[in-house]
Amino acid sequence: MPQIPEKIHELTVGQLSARSGAAVSALHFYESKGLITSRRTSGNQRRYSRDALRRVAFVRAAQRVGIPLATIRDALAELPEERTPTREDWARLSQAWRKELDARITQLGRLRDHLTDCIGCGCLSLETCVLSNPDDVFGERLTGSRLLAEKKTS
Ligand code: FES
Repeated sequence: MPQIPEKIHELTVGQLSARSGAAVSALHFYESKGLITSRRTSGNQRRYSRDALRRVAFVRAAQRVGIPLATIRDALAELPEERTPTREDWARLSQAWRKELDARITQLGRLRDHLTDCIGCGCLSLETCVLSNPDDVFGERLTGSRLLAEKKTS
């Protein structure tokens, strides 16, 4: 990964891309979503402050664990004056996202465990299929294309 000398306070989009590992198109996308900002030179070229590196790292780390961009943007917007997240900010935000991540892990585990039932089935039943209705409680208890009425035992 190329190093950027400390004396350089602004980065071109190419430098930011090379240093962060994010594609130029991704950086433009992040900017269009308000996750990073740049100023324009007189030649209409983008220049990013050095702290854009940390913001991009923050965004990519959050994306890697499945946090939606809208949630990331909201988190960044909560920081005072939308400053760059610090280590403490990341710790606080990642803790706040833990519940959401746990729910996703549970859902993915359920999908993994029931995928075998879906292979070759193709019903995509809203009542029984965990692929088409992953949060349905019946999807957790039953498999197959048919939902049989449960007998009450009281
Ligand atoms: S396709 Fe998932 S249960 Fe039929």
